[in-house]
This record gives sequence, C-alpha cells and structure tokens, in this order.
Amino acid sequence: MTFPYSKEVLEHFRNPHNVGKMDDPDGKGLEGSAACGDMVAVYLKVNPDTLIIEDISFESYGCASNIATASIITELAKGKTLEDAKKITWKEAAEALGGLPPVKAHCSVLAVEGLRSAIRDYEEKHGMVVEDEPTDE
Ligand code: FES
Ligand code: FES
Repeated sequence: MTFPYSKEVLEHFRNPHNVGKMDDPDGKGLEGSAACGDMVAVYLKVNPDTLIIEDISFESYGCASNIATASIITELAKGKTLEDAKKITWKEAAEALGGLPPVKAHCSVLAVEGLRSAIRDYEEKHGMVVEDEPTDE
C-alpha cells in the first residue's frame, strides 16, 4: 500500500499555518461534517474600507486533509478581497497541496466551506448583499 499524502499535505499537517482561535474576529465560520462529525472554524479580520482579509486563522478538529487544506486556504485567502477569497475552490487548494486522496475530498471541501461561512458572517454583520455561493465542480 502506498502512502496517500503528498509531501505538501504532510508539511501543512505537521506545521499548520495560521492556526488558533482569534480574539474578537470580524467574521467567523464554523462548519461540521455529517459524515465524520468533525468541525472546522475559520476567523477573519477584514479591513472595512478595502474589504481585504488582513488576518485569518483556523481551528480544526478534523483529519490531516482537513488541517492541511485549512492551512493552505488561510495562506491563499490572506491579502485577498472577500470577493476573491470566496472564489477559492477546494480544487485550487488541493492543487496547491500537490493533490489530495480522492477519498478525502469532502474533508478539504469542509475547510473551504469554513472560509466561505466566515466571509458570509462578515457580510451579514455588515449588511452587505450576500450572493449565491460559487459551486465546486
Ligand atoms: Fe473528518 Fe477528514 S475525516 S475531516
Ligand atoms: Fe469528515 Fe471527510 S470524513 S469531512
């Protein structure tokens, strides 16, 4: 049996970036999986003038794929506007991680949903029009 995880996944799993709870976030999202009962939380600090994500962190109670994906999406989202961060897909995250085992796709989708739900939370709190979420193919 070959080991399913890429070098990048293992690196992000062992040394996740932007991990931890944020005090007083501008937006936060919590998503859970019905499949395994695991959860991921994403926290945002947003510049109210530019709508750029200035800081982001996450907490994961999930598996290696979930932790590695949450780590990489925080890297991808930091410095982006909310609009651009919404467009980050799990495919993009999986590619940045050098691939994920297909059996674990939902675990990485869960991390992306956590980011989108934190963005939605910010938008709702600030009375912004909430558009339909982009869908993953
Ligand atoms: Fe639960 Fe992956 S097995 S998040
Ligand atoms: Fe729980 Fe993958 S098994 S999200």
